[in-house]
Amino acid sequence: MRKTGPIQLENGSMSANIESYCKLLTLSSVADNYENMAMDATKTKISYQEYLYKLLQQQIIDRVDRSVNAKIKKAGFPYIATMEMFDFSFQPNIDEKLLKELSTLSFLDNAKNILFVGAPGVGKTHLAVAIGLEATKQRRRVKFTTAEELTNELIAARQSNTLADYLERASRIELLIIDEIGYLDIQKESASLFFRLISKRYEKSSTIITSNKPFEEWTDVFGDEVIASAILDRLLHHAYPFLINGPSYRMKELFGQKQKKNDVKFENEEEST
Ligand SMILES: Nc1ncnc2c1ncn2[C@@H]1O[C@H](COP(=O)(O)OP(=O)(O)OP(=O)(O)O)[C@@H](O)[C@H]1O
Ligand SMILES: [Mg+2]
Repeated sequence: MRKTGPIQLENGSMSANIESYCKLLTLSSVADNYENMAMDATKTKISYQEYLYKLLQQQIIDRVDRSVNAKIKKAGFPYIATMEMFDFSFQPNIDEKLLKELSTLSFLDNAKNILFVGAPGVGKTHLAVAIGLEATKQRRRVKFTTAEELTNELIAARQSNTLADYLERASRIELLIIDEIGYLDIQKESASLFFRLISKRYEKSSTIITSNKPFEEWTDVFGDEVIASAILDRLLHHAYPFLINGPSYRMKELFGQKQKKNDVKFENEEEST
């Protein structure tokens, strides 16, 4: 398709004019496909009406794909992962049925949260991304961030006197995914900003958290017992916590076999797991 130059009407070859008209009407998929689909239509002897129908249908599919792709880019996922790509047999203590149900996103309408807690490589980020991706496909407003990135943004907003705006905008994100709580200690000052964000979103919108630290160690992460329990209290009030205590998938990929379970112990964990 011609990229530059003025749009010409009724001038030049028919195919050049079709491309110009498509450009005018922003029907790039029609311009790209009309010739090939016309040849197919001749071969398969479909009607003019059906040809037009298929051509327009392809245009719609392409447009939806482009807008979803733009949303996926904007959400900021670290990688693309889906529920179908997750090998549940490798992590049998995860409630597969519940997770698949959560992928239907009903939890978003009830402003419920999901928390994935477990050692490195057990699939926390993968599952968070898979649910986030589903939400993005359904055109929900999704943002993926890490605890470090988020606290840096909160501090920057406070320093530039834009914290209220920042919190307001953050409360409008339908699904906020905060990855990697626990890998870096959060200073007490940042912890109280973090609390304000969680508090602002509480019972309004959903948050997915991933953490390598069991909840009883969050006091150390946030450097303050009162703030840590206030954050946890709000996050867990309407929530689905998943404590994943299986082996690391990264190790499986590295050694090509099942590793022995991680040593991390979590509260409520059954003795047999
Ligand atoms: N059960 C699984 N089936 C398929 N792929 C998996 C599974 N678990 C993890 N993976 C893959 O292994 C890699 C590591 O998983 P992931 O990023 O989710 O780890 P994590 O629990 O977030 O670890 P960390 O705490 O180090 O961030 C990713 O590429 C992910 O797609
Ligand atoms: Mg991770």
